[in-house]
Amino acid sequence: MPAADNTPKGLGYISTALATPVTPAEAALRPLSFSDFTGQPKTVERLKIMVGAARQRSEPLNHILLSGPPGLGKTTLAFILGNELGKSVRVTSGPVIEKAGDLAGLLTNLEEGDILFIDEIHRIPKTVEEYLYSAMEDFRLDIMIDQGPNARSVRLSIPRFTLVGATTRSGLLTAPLRSRFTLQTRLDYYDHATLENIVQRSCGLLKVTIDAGGAAEIAKRARGTPRVVNNLINFVRDYAQQRANGKITQPIAAAALELLEIDAAGLDDMDKRMLRVMAENYGGKPVGMSTIAVAVGEEAETLEEVHEPYLIQEGYIQRTPQGRILTAKGYSAVGLKAAVGLDEKGLF
Ligand SMILES: Nc1ncnc2c1ncn2[C@@H]1O[C@H](COP(=O)(O)OP(=O)(O)OP(=O)(O)O)[C@@H](O)[C@H]1O
Ligand SMILES: [Mg+2]
Repeated sequence: MPAADNTPKGLGYISTALATPVTPAEAALRPLSFSDFTGQPKTVERLKIMVGAARQRSEPLNHILLSGPPGLGKTTLAFILGNELGKSVRVTSGPVIEKAGDLAGLLTNLEEGDILFIDEIHRIPKTVEEYLYSAMEDFRLDIMIDQGPNARSVRLSIPRFTLVGATTRSGLLTAPLRSRFTLQTRLDYYDHATLENIVQRSCGLLKVTIDAGGAAEIAKRARGTPRVVNNLINFVRDYAQQRANGKITQPIAAAALELLEIDAAGLDDMDKRMLRVMAENYGGKPVGMSTIAVAVGEEAETLEEVHEPYLIQEGYIQRTPQGRILTAKGYSAVGLKAAVGLDEKGLF
């Protein structure tokens, strides 16, 4: 595998829309090959097997659905698949494909084996979704043109392509659509050791000097998420440059992140609002997600897909048949926020 030099390999990346706007800084740090991508061992192994087999048979890759919370590497993996196969990746997103004609335009411009990456695929309109079925299965589209007595159906054949879908809300995908993906694989939050590697990798690319303590401090506060890692590094780098000699150490990283009011455990504002509602309004007793959602002013689905998995994984809340309950650790996190002047680390 070539060393990642972070220059695109001349492939036809065409970006029409993305779920999350990709800044040039984010693109520069994006791993370009499997060898450069740390973590997600199960997903990576599954993808490597599929890519290896498809290459051996000189066939297009089967359709793949990547799900999981934001910032864990779904878009990154879609581009890695393109790079590993030496194929172009065309990027679009569910809500942008408003009608069958939009889909036809995208599909007919692909070449055999290319990847169509549909971000936020759960937001694709239902009327378009039905056209996607035959495109995925039989590589054809039957499109109605004209209206009234002149209405007729035109069959378009499309190149054998690979659909890579990404979603933060796999639960909202319809069963027929989901079942057309050969592989459905979910990305999980990264553990601290893996995040430390990602911190070191990004700092290396940015030519920032960081020691092990600095990397551990950033990893600890990154909410299990590489995108957060990269965002934190950017600020800590500026801080180290302005307030120290430019080198990131543990005390520098901690001071910089405290200035940003990043929780010592990496919880974000919505995480903490959820915990506070559970503690203050319900005394930690079982409460349903839809009730929490109303109290914090966010959709229940978003809380379930984006926030709850991290809070459960880290032991702040637990799921019971009666509802979600707050753990002792969850209480501490809220106490932290409410009580000014406490030693934050002491409580964790
Ligand atoms: N395993 C990894 N190793 C190193 N960096 C990573 C890894 N995964 C993701 N990143 C970095 O995190 C950033 C965000 O990843 P990506 O855009 O792929 O997330 P996503 O899952 O598509 O998020 P969203 O749901 O918001 O679209 C990337 O720019 C990349 O630099
Ligand atoms: Mg993405």
